[in-house]
Amino acid sequence: MNRGEMLYEGKAKRVYLTDDPDRVWVEYKDDATAFNARKKGKITGKGQLNNQISSFFFRYLREKGIENHFLETLSDTEQIVKKVAILPVEVVVRNRAAGSLARRLGLEEGISFSRPVVEFYYKDDRLDDPLINEDHIRLLNAATDDQLAMMRQTALKVNRLLSKLMEERGITLVDFKLEFGLNREGHLLLADEISPDTCRFWEAATGQKLDKDRFRRDLGNVENAYREIWNRLGGETRV
Ligand code: C5P
Repeated sequence: MNRGEMLYEGKAKRVYLTDDPDRVWVEYKDDATAFNARKKGKITGKGQLNNQISSFFFRYLREKGIENHFLETLSDTEQIVKKVAILPVEVVVRNRAAGSLARRLGLEEGISFSRPVVEFYYKDDRLDDPLINEDHIRLLNAATDDQLAMMRQTALKVNRLLSKLMEERGITLVDFKLEFGLNREGHLLLADEISPDTCRFWEAATGQKLDKDRFRRDLGNVENAYREIWNRLGGETRV
Protein backbone atom coordinates (compact mmCIF):
# COMPACT_ATOMS: atom_id res chain seq x y z
CA MET A 1 0.00 0.00 0.00
CA ASN A 2 1.32 3.45 -0.88
CA ARG A 3 1.05 6.58 1.22
CA GLY A 4 -0.62 9.36 -0.73
CA GLU A 5 -1.43 12.98 -0.11
CA MET A 6 -1.86 14.22 3.46
CA LEU A 7 -5.56 14.52 4.18
CA TYR A 8 -5.40 16.13 7.58
CA GLU A 9 -2.96 17.07 10.30
CA GLY A 10 -4.29 16.99 13.83
CA LYS A 11 -2.72 17.81 17.16
CA ALA A 12 -1.24 14.34 17.66
CA LYS A 13 -1.59 12.60 14.28
CA ARG A 14 -1.26 13.01 10.53
CA VAL A 15 -3.69 11.22 8.23
CA TYR A 16 -2.78 10.35 4.62
CA LEU A 17 -4.76 8.96 1.72
CA THR A 18 -3.74 5.57 0.28
CA ASP A 19 -4.39 3.95 -3.11
CA ASP A 20 -7.42 2.27 -1.51
CA PRO A 21 -10.28 4.80 -1.16
CA ASP A 22 -11.58 2.97 1.92
CA ARG A 23 -8.29 3.05 3.87
CA VAL A 24 -6.19 5.82 5.37
CA TRP A 25 -2.65 5.82 6.74
CA VAL A 26 -2.25 7.33 10.21
CA GLU A 27 1.04 8.58 11.62
CA TYR A 28 1.23 9.24 15.37
CA LYS A 29 3.38 12.23 16.36
CA ASP A 30 5.36 13.05 19.50
CA ASP A 31 3.61 16.44 19.66
CA ALA A 32 1.46 16.98 22.71
CA THR A 33 -1.16 19.66 23.26
CA ALA A 34 -3.57 20.39 26.07
CA PHE A 35 -6.30 22.92 26.86
CA ASN A 36 -7.31 23.17 23.18
CA ALA A 37 -3.65 23.66 22.11
CA ARG A 38 -3.03 26.57 24.50
CA LYS A 39 -0.29 24.36 25.99
CA LYS A 40 2.11 22.72 23.55
CA GLY A 41 5.06 20.37 23.90
CA LYS A 42 6.78 17.25 22.70
CA ILE A 43 6.93 13.91 24.48
CA THR A 44 9.75 11.79 23.08
CA GLY A 45 8.48 8.33 22.16
CA LYS A 46 4.80 9.25 22.53
CA GLY A 47 4.00 8.63 18.85
CA GLN A 48 5.40 5.14 19.03
CA LEU A 49 3.80 4.28 22.36
CA ASN A 50 0.35 5.62 21.45
CA ASN A 51 0.43 3.87 18.07
CA GLN A 52 1.14 0.57 19.81
CA ILE A 53 -1.24 1.10 22.74
CA SER A 54 -4.09 2.24 20.48
CA SER A 55 -3.51 -0.69 18.08
CA PHE A 56 -3.62 -3.04 21.05
CA PHE A 57 -6.92 -1.64 22.41
CA PHE A 58 -8.66 -1.61 19.03
CA ARG A 59 -7.55 -5.20 18.33
CA TYR A 60 -8.79 -6.25 21.76
CA LEU A 61 -12.16 -4.53 21.27
CA ARG A 62 -12.57 -6.12 17.84
CA GLU A 63 -11.99 -9.57 19.43
CA LYS A 64 -14.73 -8.70 21.92
CA GLY A 65 -17.17 -7.84 19.12
CA ILE A 66 -16.84 -4.05 18.97
CA GLU A 67 -16.55 -3.02 15.35
CA ASN A 68 -13.94 -0.34 14.80
CA HIS A 69 -11.78 1.35 12.21
CA PHE A 70 -8.51 -0.43 12.99
CA LEU A 71 -6.90 -2.60 10.28
CA GLU A 72 -3.17 -3.06 10.90
CA THR A 73 -0.08 -1.65 12.59
CA LEU A 74 2.42 -0.71 9.87
CA SER A 75 5.45 0.49 11.78
CA ASP A 76 6.41 1.90 15.16
CA THR A 77 4.44 5.08 14.54
CA GLU A 78 2.05 4.19 11.71
CA GLN A 79 -1.17 2.26 11.29
CA ILE A 80 -3.77 1.65 8.59
CA VAL A 81 -7.41 2.28 9.46
CA LYS A 82 -10.72 2.31 7.61
CA LYS A 83 -11.61 5.71 6.20
CA VAL A 84 -14.54 7.28 8.06
CA ALA A 85 -16.09 10.71 8.39
CA ILE A 86 -15.74 11.52 12.09
CA LEU A 87 -18.98 12.72 13.73
CA PRO A 88 -18.52 16.02 15.61
CA VAL A 89 -19.40 14.43 18.96
CA GLU A 90 -16.89 13.26 21.56
CA VAL A 91 -18.24 10.67 23.97
CA VAL A 92 -16.69 10.69 27.44
CA VAL A 93 -17.28 7.95 30.02
CA ARG A 94 -16.27 8.48 33.64
CA ASN A 95 -15.93 6.06 36.54
CA ARG A 96 -14.39 8.52 39.00
CA ALA A 97 -14.32 12.27 39.45
CA ALA A 98 -11.42 13.96 37.66
CA GLY A 99 -10.62 16.75 35.23
CA SER A 100 -13.43 18.96 33.94
CA LEU A 101 -16.19 17.05 35.77
CA ALA A 102 -14.49 17.44 39.15
CA ARG A 103 -14.09 21.16 38.42
CA ARG A 104 -17.59 21.70 37.03
CA LEU A 105 -19.44 19.92 39.85
CA GLY A 106 -17.00 20.70 42.67
CA LEU A 107 -16.26 17.02 43.34
CA GLU A 108 -13.11 15.79 45.02
CA GLU A 109 -10.77 14.12 42.53
CA GLY A 110 -10.90 10.34 42.79
CA ILE A 111 -14.43 9.87 44.18
CA SER A 112 -15.83 6.76 42.50
CA PHE A 113 -19.29 6.66 40.97
CA SER A 114 -21.81 3.86 41.57
CA ARG A 115 -22.58 3.93 37.83
CA PRO A 116 -20.59 5.38 34.97
CA VAL A 117 -21.34 8.92 33.80
CA VAL A 118 -21.64 9.45 30.02
CA GLU A 119 -21.11 12.92 28.56
CA PHE A 120 -21.12 14.37 25.06
CA TYR A 121 -18.93 17.21 23.83
CA TYR A 122 -19.30 19.11 20.56
CA LYS A 123 -16.07 18.82 18.56
CA ASP A 124 -15.40 22.43 17.66
CA ASP A 125 -12.05 24.04 18.55
CA ARG A 126 -13.50 27.52 17.99
CA LEU A 127 -16.03 26.89 20.77
CA ASP A 128 -13.56 24.95 22.98
CA ASP A 129 -15.48 21.66 22.59
CA PRO A 130 -18.49 22.55 24.79
CA LEU A 131 -20.41 20.00 26.86
CA ILE A 132 -23.72 19.28 25.08
CA ASN A 133 -26.79 17.15 25.75
CA GLU A 134 -28.87 14.97 23.45
CA ASP A 135 -31.21 17.86 22.55
CA HIS A 136 -28.21 19.96 21.50
CA ILE A 137 -26.96 17.09 19.35
CA ARG A 138 -30.37 16.96 17.60
CA LEU A 139 -30.41 20.75 17.23
CA LEU A 140 -26.95 20.72 15.64
CA ASN A 141 -27.71 17.64 13.51
CA ALA A 142 -24.44 16.28 14.86
CA ALA A 143 -25.77 12.69 15.01
CA THR A 144 -29.10 10.90 14.53
CA ASP A 145 -30.99 9.45 17.49
CA ASP A 146 -29.99 5.93 16.40
CA GLN A 147 -26.34 6.89 16.12
CA LEU A 148 -26.47 8.53 19.52
CA ALA A 149 -28.04 5.47 21.14
CA MET A 150 -25.41 3.26 19.50
CA MET A 151 -22.56 5.55 20.61
CA ARG A 152 -23.77 5.53 24.22
CA GLN A 153 -24.25 1.75 24.26
CA THR A 154 -20.85 1.10 22.64
CA ALA A 155 -19.09 3.53 24.97
CA LEU A 156 -20.51 1.76 28.03
CA LYS A 157 -19.47 -1.61 26.62
CA VAL A 158 -15.95 -0.30 25.94
CA ASN A 159 -15.90 0.95 29.53
CA ARG A 160 -16.80 -2.48 30.93
CA LEU A 161 -14.22 -4.25 28.75
CA LEU A 162 -11.32 -1.84 29.25
CA SER A 163 -12.00 -1.31 32.98
CA LYS A 164 -11.72 -5.07 33.50
CA LEU A 165 -8.68 -5.46 31.24
CA MET A 166 -6.84 -2.64 33.01
CA GLU A 167 -7.91 -3.69 36.50
CA GLU A 168 -6.31 -7.10 35.88
CA ARG A 169 -3.10 -5.18 35.16
CA GLY A 170 -3.26 -3.07 38.30
CA ILE A 171 -4.56 0.06 36.57
CA THR A 172 -7.80 1.97 37.25
CA LEU A 173 -9.58 3.34 34.18
CA VAL A 174 -10.77 6.69 35.56
CA ASP A 175 -12.31 8.11 32.36
CA PHE A 176 -11.82 8.22 28.60
CA LYS A 177 -13.00 9.83 25.37
CA LEU A 178 -14.19 8.04 22.23
CA GLU A 179 -14.92 9.24 18.71
CA PHE A 180 -17.07 7.56 16.07
CA GLY A 181 -17.22 7.87 12.30
CA LEU A 182 -19.30 6.80 9.33
CA ASN A 183 -17.81 4.68 6.55
CA ARG A 184 -18.79 5.02 2.90
CA GLU A 185 -21.91 2.91 3.45
CA GLY A 186 -22.97 5.16 6.35
CA HIS A 187 -22.13 2.49 8.90
CA LEU A 188 -21.12 3.77 12.38
CA LEU A 189 -17.67 2.63 13.59
CA LEU A 190 -15.64 3.33 16.70
CA ALA A 191 -12.62 5.31 15.44
CA ASP A 192 -9.80 7.72 16.33
CA GLU A 193 -7.47 6.70 19.16
CA ILE A 194 -7.50 5.05 22.59
CA SER A 195 -4.31 5.84 24.49
CA PRO A 196 -2.95 7.67 27.55
CA ASP A 197 -3.67 10.87 25.57
CA THR A 198 -7.40 10.09 25.62
CA CYS A 199 -7.85 8.08 28.83
CA ARG A 200 -7.04 8.69 32.50
CA PHE A 201 -5.16 5.72 33.94
CA TRP A 202 -4.17 5.56 37.62
CA GLU A 203 -1.95 2.90 39.12
CA ALA A 204 -4.40 1.11 41.44
CA ALA A 205 -1.92 0.51 44.28
CA THR A 206 -0.52 4.05 44.50
CA GLY A 207 -2.96 6.33 42.65
CA GLN A 208 -0.06 7.49 40.47
CA LYS A 209 -1.22 9.13 37.23
CA LEU A 210 -0.07 7.28 34.11
CA ASP A 211 -1.60 9.49 31.41
CA LYS A 212 -1.65 12.92 29.80
CA ASP A 213 -2.46 14.65 33.10
CA ARG A 214 1.31 14.38 33.75
CA PHE A 215 1.80 16.72 30.77
CA ARG A 216 -1.26 18.90 31.49
CA ARG A 217 -0.22 19.45 35.10
CA ASP A 218 3.59 19.46 34.62
CA LEU A 219 4.08 16.38 36.80
CA GLY A 220 7.12 15.17 34.82
CA ASN A 221 8.02 11.62 33.71
CA VAL A 222 5.40 11.68 30.97
CA GLU A 223 7.14 9.25 28.65
CA ASN A 224 7.79 6.78 31.48
CA ALA A 225 4.11 6.85 32.40
CA TYR A 226 3.03 6.03 28.82
CA ARG A 227 5.70 3.31 28.66
CA GLU A 228 4.40 1.84 31.91
CA ILE A 229 0.93 1.50 30.37
CA TRP A 230 2.43 -0.23 27.33
CA ASN A 231 4.45 -2.57 29.56
CA ARG A 232 1.36 -3.49 31.59
CA LEU A 233 -0.32 -4.47 28.32
CA GLY A 234 2.58 -6.83 27.63
CA GLY A 235 4.46 -4.34 25.46
CA GLU A 236 7.98 -5.42 26.34
CA THR A 237 7.29 -8.97 25.21
CA ARG A 238 5.30 -7.86 22.17
CA VAL A 239 7.79 -5.52 20.45
O1 C5P B 1 -10.87 17.08 30.51
P1 C5P B 1 -11.94 16.10 30.84
O2 C5P B 1 -11.97 15.72 32.28
O3 C5P B 1 -13.29 16.52 30.33
O4 C5P B 1 -11.55 14.77 30.03
C1 C5P B 1 -12.26 13.55 30.19
C2 C5P B 1 -11.50 12.44 29.46
O5 C5P B 1 -11.57 12.66 28.05
C3 C5P B 1 -10.01 12.38 29.79
O6 C5P B 1 -9.60 11.02 29.80
C4 C5P B 1 -9.35 13.14 28.65
O7 C5P B 1 -8.04 12.67 28.40
C5 C5P B 1 -10.27 12.82 27.49
N1 C5P B 1 -10.37 13.92 26.50
C6 C5P B 1 -9.78 13.78 25.25
N2 C5P B 1 -9.88 14.78 24.33
C7 C5P B 1 -10.55 15.91 24.59
C8 C5P B 1 -11.16 16.07 25.85
C9 C5P B 1 -11.05 15.06 26.79
O8 C5P B 1 -9.18 12.73 24.97
N3 C5P B 1 -10.65 16.85 23.66
